[in-house]
Amino acid sequence: MAHRFETRAIHAGQEPDPSTGAVCTPVYMTSTFVQSAPGVHQGYDYSRADNPTRHALEDNLASLEGARHGITFSSGCAATAAVVHWLGEGAHVISMDDVYGGTRRLFSQVFAHAARSFSFTDLTDPGAFEAHIQPNTKAIWVESPTNPLLKLADISAIVERAHARGIKVIVDNTFMSPYFQNPLALGADMVVHSCTKYLGGHSDVVMGVVMTNDDAAADRIRFIQKSVGATPGPMDCFLVMRGTKTLAIRMREHQSNAMHLASWLEAHPKVTKVIYPGLPSHPQHALAARQMSGFGGMISFIVEGGLAMATRVLERCKVFALAESLGGVESLIEHPGIMTHASVPAEIREELGIDDGLIRLSTGIEHIDDLVEDIRQAIED
Ligand SMILES: Cc1ncc(COP(=O)(O)O)c(C=O)c1O
Repeated sequence: MAHRFETRAIHAGQEPDPSTGAVCTPVYMTSTFVQSAPGVHQGYDYSRADNPTRHALEDNLASLEGARHGITFSSGCAATAAVVHWLGEGAHVISMDDVYGGTRRLFSQVFAHAARSFSFTDLTDPGAFEAHIQPNTKAIWVESPTNPLLKLADISAIVERAHARGIKVIVDNTFMSPYFQNPLALGADMVVHSCTKYLGGHSDVVMGVVMTNDDAAADRIRFIQKSVGATPGPMDCFLVMRGTKTLAIRMREHQSNAMHLASWLEAHPKVTKVIYPGLPSHPQHALAARQMSGFGGMISFIVEGGLAMATRVLERCKVFALAESLGGVESLIEHPGIMTHASVPAEIREELGIDDGLIRLSTGIEHIDDLVEDIRQAIED
């Protein structure tokens, strides 16, 4: 019988080291591997092509996402870039409009100049992409929930429509992690994660991964990994592997803290709006409950008083660190308009609803009373 998530998180891809019996996969800090005769080696010849620590991590991540293949990169953006390379010259991609700002920048300001084209649309309506289909449309790029507005896309419904037209579906699953959402099981063709976030979980590493059950696509993406060379180092692989061992318990705690905090914020008179998929007030709460096995640790909210008040809250928090990124054990607070989404043009931010008073929280796993008190004093005192 297949092991359960928590067990796979600790054991998948990780055998005791054959030469020493070390329980933890060692950090194979080497760029090259000795050959007994030209072309004869023990499975590894050069670390850009493959490295035992990276190999163990890739098997581990693939197992968690229910994929046959996991292919790691030096960042989430590099993983995204590898997928767009794979789609090929001339490809048109229809993307969720509210994707991570760096993804939008990569699409519109890099690949749009490299023989790819993009349309952005609100995929909360699963049929919305159909109006944008062109003869060369190769993929739908889904992020669910999105960043920072926590909009959801119905992955199965999009897959059904896209596959009927021969279009692939790729899901950036960073916000939920494989613990709360498995897009491949919902029919998606490929999953991308920024491992920098929940998978690593300790804000000490930048990495990305592409996962798929499509053998031919995996071969090509592995070829791109080796040829472009945006590969993670063995120490980073070790850190993410250490992170995944506790993914399940961290995600449960992130979610429990976020649920509590979101409910508290919603009851606060100076908070005009709280966006959290776990709240019944979230317009897609029913979809969230159906599609995900939890609601995650990300909360966005709008505080009364616009930019001035939002800035004050950000500056006054002491437990919440004012920083970009998310998914680590420590709570972070940020202002999407000025920070993570500054690369999104102001008119598009306005169109999307990224208000000047919008604050995004990555709820960590500190004690919930300290988190509530930190936000309370920042708003009230
Ligand atoms: C949803 C999402 N996807 C991709 C990325 C890019 O990942 P990285 O920063 O590891 O390149 C991020 C980074 O914030 C993200 O939030």
